[in-house]
Amino acid sequence: MSERIYVGADHAGFELKQKLVAELKKLGYEPIDVGPKALDPADDYPDYAKPVADAVSRGVVQRGVLTCGAGLGMSFTANRYPHVRAALVWSPEVAELSRKHNDANVLVLPSRFVSEAEGLEILHKWLTTKFEGGRHQRRVEKIDR
Ligand code: RB5
Repeated sequence: MSERIYVGADHAGFELKQKLVAELKKLGYEPIDVGPKALDPADDYPDYAKPVADAVSRGVVQRGVLTCGAGLGMSFTANRYPHVRAALVWSPEVAELSRKHNDANVLVLPSRFVSEAEGLEILHKWLTTKFEGGRHQRRVEKIDR
């Protein structure tokens, strides 16, 4: 069965989100698009960060992807949820570290600061990099203690 991944954006991330959803399908994942379904310049990032973070927090899915202009509003909102480790990522190297060292379970992309090609490359790296565990496991566990 293909992995389900919740995906959301605000107006600033809308175009990139459409590309991310299409790419996830192409790669064999099952993206659950929480919206927006159409561009609404007046929408608010928490309305889309919350359903994604909630699904990851409750274990409905293992991973989520969010995008807004700077990536900050999405990160702030998602990281309020227990067990969510939302990583604001702007390069493939940071994507790799966010998985290897931090076991990030939500990828946040700053749509105004990465190109579409960079966003997709970051997505690939993030999806395919495994958590290293070991000393990083101890550190990740301490976040919730
Ligand atoms: C929307 O203009 C913008 O503030 C939002 O996408 C995001 O950058 C917030 O952190």
